[in-house]
Order: sequence, then C-alpha cells, then structure tokens
Amino acid sequence: MDDLRDKYISLIAGATAEATLEDLRVQAIGKKGEISLKMRELGKMTPEQRQEAGPKLNALKDEITSALAAKKEALADAALDERLRGEWLDVTLPVRARRQGTIHPISQVTEEVTAIFADMGFAVAEGPQVESDWYNFDALNIPGHHPARAEMDTFYTHRGEGDERPPHVLRTHTSPVQIRTMQEQGAPIRIIAPGRVYRADYDMTHTPMFHQVEGLAIDKDISMANLKWVLEEFVKAFFEVDDVELRFRASHFPFTEPSAEVDIRCSWEGGTLKVGEGDDWLEILGSGMVHPKVLEASNIDPTEWQGFAFGMGIDRIAMLKYGIPDLRAFFDSDLRWLRHYGFAALDVPTLRGGLSR
Ligand code: DAH
Repeated sequence: MDDLRDKYISLIAGATAEATLEDLRVQAIGKKGEISLKMRELGKMTPEQRQEAGPKLNALKDEITSALAAKKEALADAALDERLRGEWLDVTLPVRARRQGTIHPISQVTEEVTAIFADMGFAVAEGPQVESDWYNFDALNIPGHHPARAEMDTFYTHRGEGDERPPHVLRTHTSPVQIRTMQEQGAPIRIIAPGRVYRADYDMTHTPMFHQVEGLAIDKDISMANLKWVLEEFVKAFFEVDDVELRFRASHFPFTEPSAEVDIRCSWEGGTLKVGEGDDWLEILGSGMVHPKVLEASNIDPTEWQGFAFGMGIDRIAMLKYGIPDLRAFFDSDLRWLRHYGFAALDVPTLRGGLSR
C-alpha cells in the first residue's frame, strides 16, 4: 500500500496538464483503478485483515482524491498567472501615435461654425431630436395639409393602438429649436442651434441622419441686410479665404418671408470638390426673415420684433471645405477613412489659433 501511495503521489506531483490528472484518477481510483481493485479484495479477507486494511485503503483513496484536487487547482492558478502575464497592460503609458483617435469632420466643423458665430455674439441653443409635430411643423407655419410635410420624408414614431394623438417625429430640421428658444428666452435673441436631423433619403449627398445648424437673430430693427452680412462673414471665416462667391436665390419657406436660398460657387472636377471656382453651385442653406406667424406661435409680438433665420447643412459645408465627395462615408465608421479625414484631438478650432490649421 505504501508503494501505491508513493507511486501516485509522485505521479500527481509531476503532472503538468489537467488531462494527465484525469488519467491518473482513472488509473488509481476509477472503477477498475488499482486502489479500487484492492478495495474489492477486502471481501475475500478475514475480518481481522479487513479491519486493518479497510481504513487504510479508504485513507489512501481520500489522500489521492485531495492530492488530485489540489494539483488541479495549482495548475489552474498557474495557467491564469501565465495568461495575466501575457495580457498585461500599463494603462499609465502615454498614447501611442497610431492608436490615437481623431475628431470626426462633423465634430470639427461644428466646432468651427460655433467659434465663428460665437465671435459674432451668437449663443448655442439645443432642442430634442425626437420632437412633437407641433414644434417641427405647425409652429413653423407648416399646417397638417402643407406639401412641405410630404416633401420632408419624415420619420414618424408609432403611437400605441387606440392612441389618437399625433405621432412624434424625428426632427426633419433644426428649425424647431427656433420656437423653443423664443418661448424660453423671449426677444431679443441671437443663437445658433447645431444638431442632428433625420429624413428618409440616401445617395451621394444625402443620408437618413445628417446635421444642420440653425441661426436666429431677433431684435427691433434686424433686416435682410444683416442676414446677408452675417452669412458672408461666416462663409469667408469658415473657408478661411478673403473671397467666396455666394448666390442669394429668391425662394420659399413657410417659416420665412421673404426667403432666400444661398448657393456657393464650386467645381466637382475629377471627383474633387473645390470651393470658389468652377461653374457649379452647391446649395448650402435656406434663410429669410422670420414669418410673423412663427413669432406669434412663440409668444413674441410681431409688431414689435423681427429678425432673420437660416438653416445650413453642416455635412455639406464639411464636404466642401475638406473635399470629401461622398457623404455616406461620414457614417460608415471605417477606421482608414476616420484616420484620413479626422482631426488631431487637441487642436481645438479657435479664431485666434486658426480654425483648421
Ligand atoms: N429648415 C429648412 C430645411 O431644413 C432650412 C431653413 C430655411 C431654415 C430657411 C431656416 C430658414 O431657418 O429661415 O430645409
């Protein structure tokens, strides 16, 4: 029995894999194991012999069982230690250049736009992306039957069965922030409202989620001339050039009167987009003088106050400024694209320090 004990204890101690331990268990105390066979022999012994051998065999079986369990645990610990050594990571190390994230062109351009308008005295306002249809449409002088509702390719939310209230919408533009800001702050006002908007549309220059920045200035003597100056100043600062050619086109929006769309001269030659040259025009914004009905809906007296508003596509001006031909790539999360078009995380755009360089 001592020989058996020495043999198995040393085999267990020398095992280096869990599978070996299992083999040893079967060999020693499995159904046909050496120790199990010895236990079966107890039946053939005299009572005296059995009284002596029985407890010894049981003790031996217990000793081997615990030796197996202890070794199994030791092997698991060693495996874990080994793995931890391999996966070790020092979180206090400085970032490696290649691993550094970049600022997405949309975030960059939003910062640039904000810096320029902040310099002209515009504060930043926000509103919800899931909006009531009153804020998104009615308050902006777009009543239920108005064709502008159909044109916008609106995403509607569902109401529960039997719930007759009008559904909420994913805001189709940032214009509802005009209403919310006027209600909350009253006149005078000078704000921009950058943010996400949604329309069911998809091609080179349209994605179902995109970005706009709304502008709103309300005071007693604001005119279309102020709008034109502000937009020209903005465009020059944004494109970081002395001259950019803008085209104001008479247009129609339910929430402004008169209304103008603004295009910027550009070329698409060779698939690259260039601003300020060429024979193409890219529409970048809609604008106008805020409609009296919109002021009324926001509890502002249109006989006392007036102002201008505009809504500009952030993605559009990002494509133009940074020569990015396909809007869809903005939202593909392709790391190579993000590294190529992204901006250094610590270069915050300011008018003093430069917007993009
Ligand atoms: N909300 C319009 C759109 O998404 C853009 C717009 C046009 C906004 C004229 C304005 C505006 O504030 O005055 O197409």
